[in-house]
Amino acid sequence: MERRQFLSWVGVGMLASSLPFALAACSQTEEQAEAEGDTGDNAGDPVAPLETTVDDQGFQALATREQLALGPVLVQSATLPVFIFEIDGEMAALNPTCTHRGCTVALQEDGTFLCPCHDAQFTTAGAVTNGPAEAPLTTFEIKAEGDRILVKVEA
Ligand code: FES
Repeated sequence: MERRQFLSWVGVGMLASSLPFALAACSQTEEQAEAEGDTGDNAGDPVAPLETTVDDQGFQALATREQLALGPVLVQSATLPVFIFEIDGEMAALNPTCTHRGCTVALQEDGTFLCPCHDAQFTTAGAVTNGPAEAPLTTFEIKAEGDRILVKVEA
């Protein structure tokens, strides 16, 4: 075997042996998704609340009706992430943090919430319909005052 041919084969061998490592480095692990709080397809990055103050009943103005008219809104309240959406013309709000291991669930076109980490499913009322999660998502009272959407994020 000539020197050039030998070096060529060594190069191919090195490339082939490093391929699994390169592929592994490019794929996101489940743990990374959990650590990064994978937001699924439609949750997007959380936006800041409309107002930072919480009234004496525990309500905080998190978004506007104008924002909600454009689609669901993920807001980082003072204490929790809050996913605000409309279902059958009614406003609803819940904590999109999966009760299994803390990934962020995503609202699906069929009206369910799906966790991207281990496929738990929840109704829009937060009830578990498919494990491994066992506890429901936390839902919040929600109301509108003028254009402001207020959510009861504290007891
Ligand atoms: Fe949601 Fe495991 S973190 S199903």
